[in-house]
Amino acid sequence: MKTVFITGGSTGIGAASVKKFIQQGWNVGFMDINEEAARERMEEINRPEQLIFVPGDTRNRADIHRAVEETVKRFGRLDSVVANAGIHRCNTLLDISDEELDLMIQTNIYGTVNTLREAVPHIIRAGGGTVVINASDQWFVGKAHSFGYGLTKGALGQITRSLSIDLGPKNIRVNAVCAGTIHTPLVDNLFEKFAQENHCSIDDYWREENALYARGSAGRPEEVAEMVYFLASDASSFCTGGHYLVDGGLVAH
Ligand SMILES: NC(=O)c1ccc[n+]([C@@H]2O[C@H](COP(=O)([O-])OP(=O)(O)OC[C@H]3O[C@@H](n4cnc5c(N)ncnc54)[C@H](O)[C@@H]3O)[C@@H](O)[C@H]2O)c1
Repeated sequence: MKTVFITGGSTGIGAASVKKFIQQGWNVGFMDINEEAARERMEEINRPEQLIFVPGDTRNRADIHRAVEETVKRFGRLDSVVANAGIHRCNTLLDISDEELDLMIQTNIYGTVNTLREAVPHIIRAGGGTVVINASDQWFVGKAHSFGYGLTKGALGQITRSLSIDLGPKNIRVNAVCAGTIHTPLVDNLFEKFAQENHCSIDDYWREENALYARGSAGRPEEVAEMVYFLASDASSFCTGGHYLVDGGLVAH
C-alpha cells in the first residue's frame, strides 16, 4: 500500500486530496496549522487505520520534520508528497508591507521547500515516487492585486522544473498543479474582505467570478484533487516537470 504526505489537508483542495487518496486505498499523513478543521476531517473520513494528522506549521522545519517522521513511522514508507499548504493576500508592489511579503514568502515558498526537504529523502529511500506542488494559474498569467502571491507561485512553478531534472535520475517525478479559481475557504475569505470593504455581499463577488468561466462556475476542490491524484499516481508515469492547468479554460482566453 502506498503512502502520501500532504500539507494543508484540513480544508479546501488539501482536504479533497486527502479524501481522494484514502478512497484510492493509500495511507495518508497530513499536516495543518488548523487543528479544529483537521479533527473534523478525521471524524468525517473515519479511517484511523489509513489516516493520521499531525498538527504543525510548514514555515517551521522542525514541525515538518516531525510530521513526515510520524507518517513514515506509522506507515513504514513514503511514496509521494503533496506540497499544498498556501495562503493568499491582496497586495501590489506599492502597498505590500515587509511583514506581508515575508509572510507570503515564508508560507508559500519556505513552507513548500521545508516540506520537500523533509519528504524527498524518504521517497528516495522507497526507491522513487512523486512530488506534486500546488502552484496556481498565476504561473501562467498575472492577476491584479496579487503581487506577493504571484511572486511565490512563480517560484513554485520554477522549482517544479529544476527539481524534475535533479530528481529524475532518482526515479522521482515532479509536477505542479495550476488551478484557476476554486471555491475554498481561501477565496471565501478574500471575497468576504472585499465585500466588507466595498459594502456589498460576498455573493456579488462569487457571481462575478463564476461568470469568468464558460460553464458559469468556478472550480470545486474535488476537481483539483483528481489532478493531484493523477500526478501522484502511476497513471501519470510519463509526466514530469510539467504544469497542469485545472482552470476551466481561463488561461485560454
Ligand atoms: N482556491 C483557489 O482558487 C486556488 C487556486 C490556485 C491555487 N490554489 C492553491 O491551493 C492550495 C490550497 O488552497 P485552498 O484554496 O484549498 O485554501 P484553503 O485555505 O482552503 O486551504 C489551505 C490549507 O493550508 C493550511 N495552511 C495555511 N498555512 C499553513 C501553514 N503555514 N502550515 C500548515 N498549514 C497551513 C490552512 O490551514 C488550510 O487548511 C494553496 O497553495 C493555494 O495557493 C488555490
